[in-house]
Amino acid sequence: MSPLRVGIAGLGTVGGAVLRRLTTDAAALAIRTGRPVEVVGVSARDRAKAGTLPDRAEWFDDAVALARAPDIDVFVELIGGHEGVARDAVEAAIASGKSVVTANKALLAHHGMALAAAAEAHGASLSFEAAVAGGIPAIKVLREALSGNAVDRVYGILNGTCNYILTRMEAEGLGFDACLAEAQRLGYAEADPTFDIDGHDTAHKLAILATLAFGTAIDLDAIHVEGIRSITSDDLAAADDLGYRVKLLGVAQRTRHGIETRVHPTMVAKGTALAEVKGVTNAVAVNADAVAELTLVGPGAGGDATASAVLGDIADLARGSRVLPFGRPADSLERAPRAPMQRH
Ligand code: HSE
Repeated sequence: MSPLRVGIAGLGTVGGAVLRRLTTDAAALAIRTGRPVEVVGVSARDRAKAGTLPDRAEWFDDAVALARAPDIDVFVELIGGHEGVARDAVEAAIASGKSVVTANKALLAHHGMALAAAAEAHGASLSFEAAVAGGIPAIKVLREALSGNAVDRVYGILNGTCNYILTRMEAEGLGFDACLAEAQRLGYAEADPTFDIDGHDTAHKLAILATLAFGTAIDLDAIHVEGIRSITSDDLAAADDLGYRVKLLGVAQRTRHGIETRVHPTMVAKGTALAEVKGVTNAVAVNADAVAELTLVGPGAGGDATASAVLGDIADLARGSRVLPFGRPADSLERAPRAPMQRH
């Protein structure tokens, strides 16, 4: 069978891990999917970062040119950012009818509806398992496995950097800045870590989950967002005395008034599943009519964990499986009434 030809744009923490794994695990992936997968193009800001390219891979200075290259079947966007080259390249790949795989939650949260509609119009596919909760297959579960459910609530710990900071501050009494610096060193944080600590990264992921869970268009402005910047070790110690841990939660739920979406630090009772989620680990919990409650827990950030999700999407394409980006036609996504936030 002819190989699935992949172009990778962006060689940061995730892009580097994807390139390494696609190179070293190519034979195993071919056996698992029944089709060889080959990296035939690579693009990044810094040519030196790429090191030795796989045998058949060509270097592209321009990610948009890679996205349009005629001998590429799948364009993997790991550049990041919701405007500029990442957006231009994804739009170019879709317009050329290519399959797109991306980990870019900001791009999807801002432009997901338009990109999904364009993908449908051009017969392209748009896959983004890596955009939410790193190595946890939350997208596939909500979009596919839970298709037979009406979802009431999706919530969880969606930012590994914040959970890492809160866990280390609580367990070791370390200061906020030292914990953030360590999260950056480990490759968990965003290029601009204010997205993590001010809650915007969680909001991006929550918007994507809410769209999948409720069939509603993403409305970032409707999300109430508070981050963890002002949390102190004293706050964590006080919560501990009362039997709680502090977690940054993203919550989307159906209410009488519409879909309520919010991101804020929350006191979670010790002994409950979410309270025991430590370090860079994420958790995605779903309340739905058939399954009642389901919680997925796993690595939420980091090169290898996120690369696992990217490779899963590439493997789906190698197998020939295709699904609509948000599990239903883009023009059927409703504009949900905005619900006022309730304090719980
Ligand atoms: N900065 C993100 C996090 C990376 O810490 O969760 C994964 O999306």
